[in-house]
Amino acid sequence: MFRFLPEQASEHAAEMDWIHHWVTDISVFFTVAIVGAMLYFAVKYRKRGGVDHETPRIEGSHFLELVWTIVPTIICIFVAWEGVRIFKDIRKVPADALTLYATGSQWKWDFEYDTGKKTTNNFVLPVNKPVKIVITSQDVLHSFFLPSMRVKVDAVKGLYNYVTFKPIKTGDYRLFCTEYCGKDHSAMLGTLSIVSENEYTRWVNDKSEKQTSPIERGKLLYVEKACKSCHTLDGTRGLGPSWLKLYGKTGKFVDGASYTADENYLRESILKPNVHLVEGYSPAMPSFEGQLSESDLAGLLAYIKSIDGTGPKTAPAATTAQQPAVDLTKLSPAERGKLIYEKGKGAGAPCLACHSLDGSKLVGPTYKGLYGKEGKWADGQTYTATDDYIKESILNPAAHVAEGFAPAMPPYQGILNDDDIKDVIEFIKTVK
Ligand code: CUA
Repeated sequence: MFRFLPEQASEHAAEMDWIHHWVTDISVFFTVAIVGAMLYFAVKYRKRGGVDHETPRIEGSHFLELVWTIVPTIICIFVAWEGVRIFKDIRKVPADALTLYATGSQWKWDFEYDTGKKTTNNFVLPVNKPVKIVITSQDVLHSFFLPSMRVKVDAVKGLYNYVTFKPIKTGDYRLFCTEYCGKDHSAMLGTLSIVSENEYTRWVNDKSEKQTSPIERGKLLYVEKACKSCHTLDGTRGLGPSWLKLYGKTGKFVDGASYTADENYLRESILKPNVHLVEGYSPAMPSFEGQLSESDLAGLLAYIKSIDGTGPKTAPAATTAQQPAVDLTKLSPAERGKLIYEKGKGAGAPCLACHSLDGSKLVGPTYKGLYGKEGKWADGQTYTATDDYIKESILNPAAHVAEGFAPAMPPYQGILNDDDIKDVIEFIKTVK
C-alpha cells in the first residue's frame, strides 16, 4: 500500500525507500486506528431520541499510560536511529567515485567532467559506478534533484555541496531544480542518461569541440596565478602548505580548530586565505577573490585532488624544489641572483612569490628601484636599502618590517649563504 515513489535507480534507493515506507505505513496505521475509533465511538454513543448515552468513566490506568508512552517512544527512537544511519550511509563518498561538477544558473545546469567534457542540462553517467557530483550555483539558490537516484541538495552560490550515489540501472532519468529560482524555474530541467561503461567512455572522451580538462586547466592556473611560488607538489614545505596529498587531509588552524581539506575548505583558502590560517603558516597569501571563475576554481580543485601521490603527473610538475640544471659558475652574480629569485633555493620559496619586479605591491616590497631606496620601518625609524639592510631583511626579516607590510616573510637563515645573498643583491641592483 502507498507505494508511490519513482523507480529505484540507485543503490541506496531501496534502503531509503524502506524507511520512508515504514514511516508512511505506521502513520497510516495510527491514523486509521485513531480516527476510526473516534468515528466508531461518535456513531455508537450519539444522542438518540433526545437521550444521552451513559458511558463508562475510566479513571487512571497505569497500564494504558505506559503502553501509549512507551510504544510511540520506541517507534520514534527507531525511526530517528535508522534515519541517521541511512543518511550517514548515503552521504559517504566511496573512494573510487567518479567526480563531476554541476553548476546551476538561471535557468540551466552546466556539467563538467574530468576529461574536460562539458554539457548543459543533459548528462551521462556509467552504470554500476559510484559518482560524486559537486554542486554550486552561479547566481541564486537552486536545488539539484534526481528523484530516481534519491538525491537532492541545494545549489548555493559561493559554496560546494555534493550528492553521491551509484546508479544500478541504465535509462533516462529526470533532473529537476527544486528551489523556486525565478521566472523559468519550472523549465530548469535536465536528463541523466545512465549507460554502459563502454558507451560512457566513448561519450565522455568524445571532444568534438576543443576543451581542456579541469585538471589541465588547474595545472595551467597553478603556474599562471603563481600558486607554484608557495605551494610545492612534492611535499616539501614552501611559504604555504604543499599540495601533495592535500585533498582530504586533516589538520589544525592557528586558533586550534581542526579542519578537513575538503572542497569548501580549499575554496575558502583560495578566495579568503586569511580567514582560517593553518597552524605553522603566516598570513602571506593574497586573496584570489574576483580573479577566478567557478570553472577556474573547479579546475584548481581537480588539479589539487590529482596530486595524490599516485600518478606520474606529480613528478614532472614539481619543478620548484629542483635545482636548475645550469652551470652556475658560468653565470654572472646578477644572473645567479635572478635564478634564486625565480626558482628559490633548497627549501626556500622563490622571492617572486612576494616581490614583484614591476613596482606592483605584493606581499612584500617590489624589487623595482629597491636598492638604495629610503623608507620607514613599522616602528617609524628610517632606513636606506643598502647591502646590509637587504642582507638582514633576507636572513632575519622579522627584525625590521617595512611600513605597510605584514611580517609574512620566513627567515632564509641557513637556506641562503653569504654568496647567494650577494647574488640576490646584485640582481636587485639590476631591477631599476
Ligand atoms: Cu533553479 Cu529553480
